[in-house]
Amino acid sequence: MNSKPAIIPLFTAEQIAERVSQLAAEISEDYAGKNPLLVGILKGAWMFLADLTRAMTIPHQCDFIRVSSYGSGTESSGEVRLLTDLSTTIIGRHVILIEDIVDTGHTLATLVKVLKERGPASLAVCSFLDKPERREVAIHIDYLGFPVPNRFVVGYGLDWDERFRHLPYIGYLEFEG
Ligand code: IMP
Ligand code: MG
Repeated sequence: MNSKPAIIPLFTAEQIAERVSQLAAEISEDYAGKNPLLVGILKGAWMFLADLTRAMTIPHQCDFIRVSSYGSGTESSGEVRLLTDLSTTIIGRHVILIEDIVDTGHTLATLVKVLKERGPASLAVCSFLDKPERREVAIHIDYLGFPVPNRFVVGYGLDWDERFRHLPYIGYLEFEG
């Protein structure tokens, strides 16, 4: 494919910042006194987690987990590999998984299963975006930024073959020609 992708803006940096503040306020209220552990799923969620942690008003910690689905391009394969594990134990902790986008649901379904087996006090899911039309396995999202239509989105941590991750806004990828 030689077509050049264009990016059609969907959420501005200002809209993103406003929604992240609202989510941080909600989580801070729900987890007051619980010292939650925010677990960012690399790489996509690092920018969202960086903003979220600074907007939180209660004590909490952050850790990361790295997964990859086989394959590249705009289709995830459903096979999820754990590439880098947490650096902390989660037994008895209130854990919140931080994700960039829920698409088929395979990534989160796998991580929820793996982490639940480790005995956390609770396990919640916070995803900045959700593409419900693409779901293959059921996932309960406790905190959601925005739902998006069935289009490939990039920016604010989300990439297309490692491109466009750095954009401060979120947009659709559109192929010309
Ligand atoms: P799932 O396992 O199919 O739910 O896919 C989850 C992962 O695929 C996300 O964490 C993203 O990294 C990636 N992904 C899914 N949809 C998109 C998209 O529209 N843009 C960029 N990455 C995506
Ligand atoms: Mg991701």
